[in-house]
Amino acid sequence: MSRIFSGVQPTGNLHLGNYLGAIRNWVALQEDFECIFCIVDLHAITQPQDPDDLRAHTREVTAAYIAAGIDPEKCIIFNQSMVPEHSELAWILACTTPLGWLNRMTQFKEKAGKHRENAGLGLYAYPVLMAADILLYRATHVPVGDDQKQHLELSRDIAGAFNRQYGVDYFPLPEPRILGAATRVMSLRDGANKMSKSDASDYSRLNMTDDADAIALKIRKARTDADPLPETPAGLEGRAEAANLVGIYAALAETGAEDVCHQFAGKMFSEFKNELSDLAVARLGPIAEKIGELKADTGHVDGILRRGAERAGAMAKQHLREIQDIIGLLRP
Ligand code: TRP
Repeated sequence: MSRIFSGVQPTGNLHLGNYLGAIRNWVALQEDFECIFCIVDLHAITQPQDPDDLRAHTREVTAAYIAAGIDPEKCIIFNQSMVPEHSELAWILACTTPLGWLNRMTQFKEKAGKHRENAGLGLYAYPVLMAADILLYRATHVPVGDDQKQHLELSRDIAGAFNRQYGVDYFPLPEPRILGAATRVMSLRDGANKMSKSDASDYSRLNMTDDADAIALKIRKARTDADPLPETPAGLEGRAEAANLVGIYAALAETGAEDVCHQFAGKMFSEFKNELSDLAVARLGPIAEKIGELKADTGHVDGILRRGAERAGAMAKQHLREIQDIIGLLRP
């Protein structure tokens, strides 16, 4: 039996890179697996957050996932802090996690920067909370981006350490499903950088909330080169911006770069961009519209999160009781 768990941080400015790299994968997985999807607000507060932004972003991310096709009946979607067992299990797991393992985490080093003594304990313990998220549901598979691979390996190590320490076979070792390598979406202005929510120029990204005019304008202004589309993807080498647009077209059309090159070989990018723009509007337009509707109805979105938290919470409570018994913690 497989059970999938994945988490996403509540951030604003969700863009095409998030959609193609993560969101769309979740939508596909829910058809074949039991899926639990979590908006990890407790992870978000490992770095300073404005409270109003945090609330808004939690709802916005939920709206985007629902608009993109996550069905709250088929899977469980909720925000982490509504199920307090995540924090409780994080403490328990922290007690079986050696400091040496945490000291290896590259993301902590990056985020903490030069003044490591000033970094919060939460930022340091971030991967333990992530392990708790996954293990609380005894999940077997975890779809994550490449940047989370190390954290997932740590989750496996923590699961193994707990099982060994208590002589049980309670936690399955969660398997990574690394996503997104094939659909790395780069900035529309600079093919060397990933499309990013924090890029100062809004022209660098297609936001999931962009309307048809904005999509068309940004694609028209996207950087390319003067050469036509090549016959094969080999002809895109050293042409980062051209390769990016071909890649985006291929991902949206759910085909490969070979097909796209074959179809448009010899055409200029000015012409290709019109096709890309039509395709992007057709795929993203309805999602943007639905996000708009959901954002206007926070009561509905909050209701989805509450119901998701109830369902997740029932499983979490049951598992935490079992874990407390394994450890020898008296419970009510
Ligand atoms: N750390 C993940 C990220 O930043 C988010 C996350 C939190 C997560 N808990 C998780 C992902 C559990 C997968 C499973 O992308």
